[in-house]
Amino acid sequence: MKTQVGIIGAGPAGLVLSHLLRRAGIESVVLESQTRQYIEERVRAGVLEQGTVDLLNELGLGQRMMRQGLMHYGVELRFSERGHRIDFKNLTGGKGVMIYAQHEVIKDLVGARLSDGGQIIFEARDANIHGLDDEKPVIRFTQSGSPQELHCDFIAGCDGFHGVCRNSIPSDVLRVYERDYPFGWLGILAEAPPASHELIYANHERGFALLSMRSPKISRLYLQCKPDEDLDAWPDSRIWEELQKRLATRDGFTLSEGPVIQKGVTGMRSFVVEPMQFGHLFLAGDSAHIVPPTGAKGLNLAVADVRVLAAGLKEFYANGKRELLQRYSEICLRRVWKVQRFSWWMTSLLHKFADDSEFDRRRQLAELDYVTSSRAASTTLAENYVGLPLE
Ligand code: FAD
Ligand code: PHB
Repeated sequence: MKTQVGIIGAGPAGLVLSHLLRRAGIESVVLESQTRQYIEERVRAGVLEQGTVDLLNELGLGQRMMRQGLMHYGVELRFSERGHRIDFKNLTGGKGVMIYAQHEVIKDLVGARLSDGGQIIFEARDANIHGLDDEKPVIRFTQSGSPQELHCDFIAGCDGFHGVCRNSIPSDVLRVYERDYPFGWLGILAEAPPASHELIYANHERGFALLSMRSPKISRLYLQCKPDEDLDAWPDSRIWEELQKRLATRDGFTLSEGPVIQKGVTGMRSFVVEPMQFGHLFLAGDSAHIVPPTGAKGLNLAVADVRVLAAGLKEFYANGKRELLQRYSEICLRRVWKVQRFSWWMTSLLHKFADDSEFDRRRQLAELDYVTSSRAASTTLAENYVGLPLE
């Protein structure tokens, strides 16, 4: 097989890239190790920045999102049992975020790509990369047990944190920057109408809690827990009890409860590799960086990377110039580090750290008070949450 850009991974990064390339008249083939059903049902993120929403609409992929998604123009920060709204619309000149599940985005992107004749090879196993230094790299993989080769001009490593692309770069070329957090999130999906029409991020002395949603009938809720929390220790009744405590207010807020339809624990980590490129390989999304989910940035950052990559490839195929491609990593990393900073900051602001002293606790509450009462500080949160502009 031959193509111009071989894309490994059909997550948000790989699929958005394939659509951007198609728009620019550049051929690509996407190799995905899982089945179509698996990637279309995997429960993950749920918040799309304004720029991600605009891009999906621009690409003609936003019809279902605009019908079923929930546009939000603010979030609530809850602490000391009181809620404080951050008004995105007012603070950012009209911007907001869309609540629309990642796996719904994946369904829209896969469906549209296949119906416009694009190639996505599912269950492409054992992918490995060769010839990165040459003009013609090759991806070898197996399909239904038989070996295949995909020859391409460039490879986009969009295969997530556990993929193979990052490790194909010699270790003496890569620098790794990382931080682990001493907690995780226990997340549930519940058949219960969301108790608030906007997201609530709660700082509580028992630990962080988040109320989010997927539709007017389905709530998505998270609780700070141990990174290796045993789900068996958390029957539904205990989860609801804990959520009720952490989300309680002085004026009697009650959470609507209902059957739990999905449950899981997610670890929290900040991770970046530099550079994000080597020869003809370009890393994008989680294969190059991970953020803790508190800022709701993972998916959006993946999309921002591939916008830069698509622009570089477009310039190369249009007039043979490699300038933008050569600066890919540098351009992406400026944004990546700002988003890392924001995600780390939101995480530090809202979680309980086991070794916190009474001083730290007071300082955290003072910071929440400041963020919710100063227009300058609220604007900082709002402009990062709705998404920083692309360079
Ligand atoms: P991915 O979505 O991981 O896509 C990579 C794709 O590559 C996958 O489909 C994978 O199957 C495929 N792949 C992997 N290896 C290979 C291989 N060798 N060959 C071929 N294909 C391969 N972000 C938030 O903002 N909020 C959240 O609540 C949130 N929750 C999350 C929960 C979980 C369990 C995880 C893992 C992530 C979560 N994230 C969340 C992060 C967000 O989902 C990611 O940042 C986003 O999916 C990144 O997109 P991506 O395309 O870079 O990678
Ligand atoms: C979600 O709805 O899954 C969600 C919302 C906000 C976050 C993280 C996850 O910060």
